[in-house]
Amino acid sequence: PASTTEPRPGDLAVGGVSLAEVAHRFGTPVYVLDESEVRERCRTYRHAFPDAEVLYAAKAFLCRAMVHWMDEEGLGLDVCSAGELELAVTTGFPPEKIVLHGNAKSPRDLESALRLGVGRIVIDSPSEIARLAAAVGPDGHQKVMVRVVPGITAGGHEKIRTGTEDQKFGLSIRDGYAQHAIARILDQPQLELTGLHCHLGSQITSIKPYLAAVRRIVGLMASLHRQHGLVLPELDLGGGHGIAYRPGEEALDLTTLARKVRTELAESCAAAGLAVPRLIIEPGRAIVGPAGVALYHVLAVKRTGDHTFVAVDGGMSDNPRPALYGVRYAPRLIGRSSAAPNTLVTVVGRHCEAGDVLASDVELPDDVRPGDLLAVPVAGAYQLSMASGYNLVGRPPVAAVNAGIARLLVRRESLDDIRSRDVGL
Ligand code: LLP
Repeated sequence: PASTTEPRPGDLAVGGVSLAEVAHRFGTPVYVLDESEVRERCRTYRHAFPDAEVLYAAKAFLCRAMVHWMDEEGLGLDVCSAGELELAVTTGFPPEKIVLHGNAKSPRDLESALRLGVGRIVIDSPSEIARLAAAVGPDGHQKVMVRVVPGITAGGHEKIRTGTEDQKFGLSIRDGYAQHAIARILDQPQLELTGLHCHLGSQITSIKPYLAAVRRIVGLMASLHRQHGLVLPELDLGGGHGIAYRPGEEALDLTTLARKVRTELAESCAAAGLAVPRLIIEPGRAIVGPAGVALYHVLAVKRTGDHTFVAVDGGMSDNPRPALYGVRYAPRLIGRSSAAPNTLVTVVGRHCEAGDVLASDVELPDDVRPGDLLAVPVAGAYQLSMASGYNLVGRPPVAAVNAGIARLLVRRESLDDIRSRDVGL
C-alpha cells in the first residue's frame, strides 16, 4: 500500500498522492486513475439526469475496479463485445443493467449476451434481426432497441462522427431502413422492442445536435405510433459529451444539456401526442477521461532543424489518439521545479515511426532532460482501451489513487505475457 508523502516542489498530487511517487513505485509509463474524480463524475450525471438511466460506455476504459465503481454509483453499462460483457458480469455487475451494442456482433457476443441475460441488445443491421430471433428461440424473450441514424453531423473528428448516413452504424430514418427493421422486429414475438437509440458521435461540444436528435427520433416514434399503434417507452441518446483536453478548452455543460434535452423531449412529445419516454444516456469519455493521467520518463532530448524532440518511454502504443485524430494534449514537467525559460517542443514516443507524436507545440522548460518525468492530464479515456502491442513494448499498468493511497489495478504487460501467446515455431 500507499504513499502519502507530500509532493516536492514542482510535483503534482492527484487523489492525495504524489505523481512522482506513483511513477517511482510502479515504473513508467503508467496510467493513474483518480477514483474519487470518476465517482464524482458519475454523481454529476446522476444529479443532472435524475430521471434518466445513465450507462457508462465501457469502451472508454474498462477494468474490474471500474465495473465495481459504476455499480456502486448506480450506473448501468454499455458494452460492445463478449469481452467487455464477461469482464463486467464476472466482476458481479448485474447483467440486466447492461446494454449490448455493435454493428457486427459475433456469434460469441450474442451467445454470451443471451446466456448472461443482458438487459437489452441494440440492433444495428437488418440481418441481425433473424439471427437474434433464432438465437433467442421461439420460447425465449429478449428486449431490444434499434439504433437509428438521425442524419445529424456532430463530433470532434470525422472518424468519430456517427450521426449521418455515410458511416457504418445504425439504420437510416431518411431512407426508411430504420422503419423497415422496426416492422420486422414487431413480427418476432420473442423480441420486445423497448425503444430507439442513436449515438451522434464523440467529443461533441454543442447541445444543439442532441436537441435535433430528440426531435428526429420523437418524430419517428410519432409515425410508428400512427402506423402500428406502437408506444416505445425508451429513448437512448447515446454518449459523446465533449471534455476539455487542454487549459482553456470548453467541455459540454451537462446541467444545461440535461435541462434542454428534458424540455425538448417534453415539448416534442406533447406536440406529437406521445407519452414522454424514459431517457437513457451513455457517456464514456466524460466519466473517465479527465480522471486519468499518463506518466512517462523522458528518455532522450534531441534538437534537429527547428525542432526540439522530447522522447518519452511510451507513445502511440499506449495513446494512438494524436496519430488517429490529431488530438492535442498538454503534457507538463513534474517531479522537479525548473527556473529555465519555456521552449516549444514536440513530445514524441519511442516507437519506430515518425507519426509517433504525443503532443506538438508544447511549452516545457528549456532544461528538460533525460530522466525527467512528464504528466499528460486527461488521459483516462480511449488511450489504454485502444492500446496496441506495437514493437512489443508491453501495455502500461493502471494505478488508482484515492485519499492518499495508491494501488495497482492492472499490472504492466510483461514480456512473459507476450511470449505466452506465441505458441508456434
Ligand atoms: N454509445 C455508443 C453507442 C458509442 O459508440 C460510444 C462511443 C459511446 C456511447 C460513448 O461515447 P463518449 O461519451 O465516450 O464520447 N476512440 C475515439 C472515440 C470513439 C467513440 C466510440 N463510441 C476517441 O478516442 O476519441
